Amino acid sequence: MSEPSLDGAYALNSLDDTKRLYADWAESYDSDFAGQMDFTLPASVAEAFAAAGGAGPVLDFGCGTGLIGERLTQLGVGPLDGADLSKEMLAVAARKGCYGHLVSGDVLDGYHMPGAPYAGVVSSGTFTNGHVGPEAISILLDLAAPGALFALSVNKQHFEALGFQAALDGLADRIAALELPEVRFYGPNATGAHKDDTGYIATFRKR
Ligand SMILES: C[S@@+](CC[C@H](N)C(=O)[O-])C[C@H]1O[C@@H](n2cnc3c(N)ncnc32)[C@H](O)[C@@H]1O
Repeated sequence: MSEPSLDGAYALNSLDDTKRLYADWAESYDSDFAGQMDFTLPASVAEAFAAAGGAGPVLDFGCGTGLIGERLTQLGVGPLDGADLSKEMLAVAARKGCYGHLVSGDVLDGYHMPGAPYAGVVSSGTFTNGHVGPEAISILLDLAAPGALFALSVNKQHFEALGFQAALDGLADRIAALELPEVRFYGPNATGAHKDDTGYIATFRKR
């Protein structure tokens, strides 16, 4: 078996393969991927959420190993809950002590989140190639309180390929104040084919 990698993650096309890849990646994700690639996106999402006035309780969707939770906690934002497909990624997040409830499952099956409705929903690196499409946004809206602030990263290629703009336009009766600032995903120490990848932090409020 080859080592888990960003290229492998971008090429995923089934839930079983996704679960397998992240089970293999969980323990080394922070050091081998986030560290080596200077993965600044989770902190950027947390900072965008806080700068827009975001407050808890917050749901971190696709929280993985909890990198957003670490930065939100430093920023004094909480309490935080997380949801993710991968039990192994959630086990790493749990060890960081930033999250209350951590729930596993495919977002398209919906989540029974004990902390709902949330005043904020954040997500980093999960709306991306081979992962989750725009249909998940309405499911997340169902878990949020009226007026809740969302800050969701979406890979630029994925945004265009899966029609996120049309999907967001179609949610106009449920969301307000949409902004789509473009951000780099990796810092200056990143190397390789993806070092200049960008995307949007879709920031909006639930009506
Ligand atoms: C690239 S990681 C990002 C993790 C973390 N948010 C970060 O920024 O480091 C993508 C995460 O999406 C999760 N994921 C993929 N497909 C999913 C699905 N259908 N439902 C819920 N989570 C999913 C994976 O398990 C993985 O933890």
